[in-house]
Amino acid sequence: MNWCHKIMLIVFGWMPWAEEKTTRIGARDCATKTDESQMQSKVCLDQYKTGLNERLITIEQDNNNSTVSDSWTNVQQAIKESAKASAGVNTCNKQKRTANDTISELSNRQKDLRLQIQNTDNEERKIKLRNERNRVLHTIRKTILEQRNEELEKKVQKINEANSDNAMFKAVKLLNQKHYENPSVEDSSGKLVINPNQTLEIVADFFKEKFQNKDLASIASFQGIPRKLNKPFTSEEVRKSLESLKNNRAPGGDEISGELLKYGTPLLHKSIANILNRVFEEHETININSGELIAIPKPGKPKGPPKNLRPITLLNTIRKALSIITLHRIRPNIEEYLSHSQSGFRPERSTSDVAWTHKWLAAKAKKEDVEIKITGIDMSAAFDTIDRQILLDIIERIVEEDELRIIRFLLSDTVINTRINGATKERPFVSNIGTPQGDSLSPVLFSVYLENALKEVRTILPRPTNKLEKTLPTEIAYADDVDFVGLNFVDTEEVQNTLHKYNLLVNIDKTEFTTLSRAGTEYKNTKKVGTLIGDEEDVERRKRLSNAALTKLLNVWIKGDKIKRKTKLKLYRSLVKSILVYNCGTWALTKSEEEKLNAFHRKQLRKVLNIKYPVKITNSSLYNKCEEHPLSIYILENRWRLFGHILRRNIEIPANKSMNSYFATHGKKFRGRPLTTLPVVLNKDLSRLQENTLQLTTREDLEHLRCIAQNRQQWRELSTRIRKAAEAPPSDD
Ligand SMILES: *[C@@H]1O[C@H](CO)[C@@H](O)[C@H](O)[C@H]1NC(C)=O
Ligand SMILES: *[C@@H]1O[C@H](CO)[C@@H](O)[C@H](O)[C@H]1NC(C)=O
Ligand SMILES: *[C@@H]1O[C@H](CO)[C@@H](O)[C@H](O)[C@H]1NC(C)=O
Ligand SMILES: *[C@@H]1O[C@H](CO)[C@@H](O)[C@H](O)[C@H]1NC(C)=O
Ligand SMILES: *[C@@H]1O[C@H](CO)[C@@H](O)[C@H](O)[C@H]1NC(C)=O
Ligand SMILES: *[C@@H]1O[C@H](CO)[C@@H](O)[C@H](O)[C@H]1NC(C)=O
Repeated sequence: MNWCHKIMLIVFGWMPWAEEKTTRIGARDCATKTDESQMQSKVCLDQYKTGLNERLITIEQDNNNSTVSDSWTNVQQAIKESAKASAGVNTCNKQKRTANDTISELSNRQKDLRLQIQNTDNEERKIKLRNERNRVLHTIRKTILEQRNEELEKKVQKINEANSDNAMFKAVKLLNQKHYENPSVEDSSGKLVINPNQTLEIVADFFKEKFQNKDLASIASFQGIPRKLNKPFTSEEVRKSLESLKNNRAPGGDEISGELLKYGTPLLHKSIANILNRVFEEHETININSGELIAIPKPGKPKGPPKNLRPITLLNTIRKALSIITLHRIRPNIEEYLSHSQSGFRPERSTSDVAWTHKWLAAKAKKEDVEIKITGIDMSAAFDTIDRQILLDIIERIVEEDELRIIRFLLSDTVINTRINGATKERPFVSNIGTPQGDSLSPVLFSVYLENALKEVRTILPRPTNKLEKTLPTEIAYADDVDFVGLNFVDTEEVQNTLHKYNLLVNIDKTEFTTLSRAGTEYKNTKKVGTLIGDEEDVERRKRLSNAALTKLLNVWIKGDKIKRKTKLKLYRSLVKSILVYNCGTWALTKSEEEKLNAFHRKQLRKVLNIKYPVKITNSSLYNKCEEHPLSIYILENRWRLFGHILRRNIEIPANKSMNSYFATHGKKFRGRPLTTLPVVLNKDLSRLQENTLQLTTREDLEHLRCIAQNRQQWRELSTRIRKAAEAPPSDD
């Protein structure tokens, strides 16, 4: 059985913090008949490579004469045939037998013994047989456990491949994965549809309405006379882009999985580069622009209305590679073009610098008893509404000619096949609006588009009215989440009108008006990039979410199995702790809040180790056993790492502005109970240092710290000193 029944994880929604927006899709047969584990076995891989090279050499001659399209078909053919030949025959299955084989053998043996026991009257023999059967049963249990441990280890590894910023989202996704089910939709009369053909029709028509605008012209694939790219694609570019493809993604309509290209040979890279170059040299298209749309139910939404389905588009691997190459090529220009207020999808920027900015603004409002107003604009499905022609016009001013040609090609008529029930491929439609579905270039293109629109918005916003307002950052953005900051709310109608010119539709009802102030409390439950502005509220929410994850981990993943302690702890860290500590570096907690959180963390650890009342374990031995530290220490480390990271960024980013604004005094400093805010906590961290000259109470202090932060080594040393000073003596009585 070579057909691989893979479970594929897909990310959707571009907003990583949207826990609600993530889920998974299900199993699907991949026609290339290879299995990742087989692919990775050395024998198979070598066979695949050798076979592929031989085939590519044979078709090279032929390809000289063929059209681009035929050449690409030949290459695809070579890939598929080589894959089949290497993984589809028994030579590759000489690897060690799977645990399942062992188990089924043992299981048969066990059944056989049971029969023998039943059929014998000889007591002595019966005892002997029983003993043997027990041994076999024991081995079965052991094997199953081993297998289970192995399986879980693999999952942990997968999560750990993500960087820390994404770890939480991976965790949430993994915990919530379900098997893929065909979507249920209702017809116009509200009845649930059973016939898959009718389901397909309804789903396809719904998304056609969404992704196709008849009033808009489609983008032509090519413009001008066919000509070579000034900087043709190189084998090296192709190799690099293929290397960065993620494993285990469902392939698109070409049914060639990323692995097959990724583990290809230099000759394959050369062939692909040649074919891509010929596309532009000859203005001949290859089938790169079609995607397969899979609709899955949005979690927590009622079944029936198609709007409660989330579309996932699977693209051909070759297109993914081309997008990645383009992304690399345009990145520097795009970085220069984007305003520093945008934190989304950029190197070295993340949701935590956005959260950091909001926390400092809140601290400012409290410190001086002023009201700071934040207008949070909500755009409906912004990625799906952009006008591709306008986008091209904007892009033209930013990138080189080559890249413009490539992007034009990628934006031209993208065809979407809706797939329900496996392989159905009917009712294709052309999508001509929005960034291409499922393309890795899309977030970047969107940022550029939005930036251009915001440039215009900025011209209509009122100038800051006084000294205080001048110090505030005016804009904080993460992808399509845009906040305007000032002493007044902005005129949303005016903003709406301007954005509308770009077909970006502001949802006035969902626009959030938040007032930060000393006395106010309402703002504390305002969520920005997945983090609540109120620290206590955010901690409570994180506790709740992580406990839900822990319950799932214990009940669904671990169950009663005797999982190794190490594995359990790894799972805990990846799947639960990551949810608990999301953006924890921005928290400002009092001593007692920290203690409570530490106790909460210990409780989770005890649950993982299954230490229940009345069994006692001292705090220090619990931490030792788990290789953990008090959570407050973890948070402190995070805080200083994030602080250093932000101090090393461009001084124009909103986070710097909000910190500077905090220290710019505007006369009245509110006298009253000192409040625990992020700057106060940072200063407190410093005050614990012995022989200390450092503090954080003025702009000068901030600048001094900024200097230190430029030297990573020095910053690390400082952070270590701060951690050591904070580490309380062990509190075991
Ligand atoms: C055919 O391809 C080979 C290698 O790719 C090249 O050296 C040769 O010049 C080509 N011949 C023609 C007629 O294009
Ligand atoms: C390849 O092209 C040459 C002319 O460019 C032609 O003479 C020859 O017949 C072609 N070969 C094939 C196999 O099509
Ligand atoms: C073994 O069988 C179990 C249950 O049938 C399955 O979940 C698991 O994936 C199989 N493992 C391997 C390595 O094939
Ligand atoms: C769905 O459509 C296909 C082809 O159009 C047809 O063969 C099949 O019988 C239909 N299935 C149902 C359940 O109507
Ligand atoms: C662990 O530490 C907390 C807080 O310091 C303390 O209240 C508690 O008694 C300790 N638990 C044990 C078992 O020592
Ligand atoms: C950011 O930091 C720099 C360097 O300390 C400071 O001079 C500047 O005023 C700050 N930028 C803004 C826009 O506030």
